[in-house]
Amino acid sequence: MLNQIPLAILACLRSYRCGTEMKFGKRISNITEINTDLSGIKEITSKFGDIKYMKEEQALVLHEIINKYDLVDLLELGFFQGKSSIYMGAIMKARGKGHLTTIDLEVARTKSPSILQLIEQTGYKDLITPIFAHRSYTWELAQMIKKSRKPIFDFCYLDGGHTFDVTALGVSLLSILMKPGGILILDDLNWSIAKSPHCKEHPEQAEIYSADEQSAMGVRMVWEEVLPKFGFKQIKEIKEFSWGLAQKL
Ligand SMILES: C[S@@+](CC[C@H](N)C(=O)[O-])C[C@H]1O[C@@H](n2cnc3c(N)ncnc32)[C@H](O)[C@@H]1O
Repeated sequence: MLNQIPLAILACLRSYRCGTEMKFGKRISNITEINTDLSGIKEITSKFGDIKYMKEEQALVLHEIINKYDLVDLLELGFFQGKSSIYMGAIMKARGKGHLTTIDLEVARTKSPSILQLIEQTGYKDLITPIFAHRSYTWELAQMIKKSRKPIFDFCYLDGGHTFDVTALGVSLLSILMKPGGILILDDLNWSIAKSPHCKEHPEQAEIYSADEQSAMGVRMVWEEVLPKFGFKQIKEIKEFSWGLAQKL
């Protein structure tokens, strides 16, 4: 099955196999057997490939990471229509374990198709729990901290609210909610308000920020300056996806 993956992706996947062992949480060997059933991912691509955002290449890397680190309690911040969520659903189904909690804003209900429809169509109702936040995932994370009082996630794909404020607060809350050894992916390391198509369409939303802040790459600032001070170790940057991969110590 793996020989169907384009060479560039295989090269990318191989680089994960060469990573160091986890020192915390479950001990994972460098040569952990990877679940090679990619049929669910391929099916999502063929049925829902036209839906925006996550690409199959990224889903294949998620598959590799989730298997390599044996991640089961998954969190996603920013699902939009839920394409990345159902890719993760396919990965969990192939592994026979795992659950994804995923958060976006109320407005995500109005997308067509919406995550609710994608979950229905894929049959992943038991695997994925979407949360529609009134204002921001940060408030939902705060409620989870109050409720659980202990780390509950071993994976987070942070793909929403790319300003410095939202990302930095998000990471600080994740440092409480993520288990030692857990893996965090920060998406859109190179995003800035100034370059954002959304902010170009809505200049009034950009205007509240100084010129300096508009041109800054907020997620990258968190990756470089904040993350290490909140108990995360950078593993690597995956430049082709603008992803930063880190591990909770
Ligand atoms: C790039 S899209 C997510 C794409 C999705 N992960 C995928 O790959 O299919 C970013 C999403 O983040 C959501 N978002 C932005 N700020 C947010 C916040 N503060 N709280 C919750 N969701 C937020 C937006 O509504 C948007 O749907």
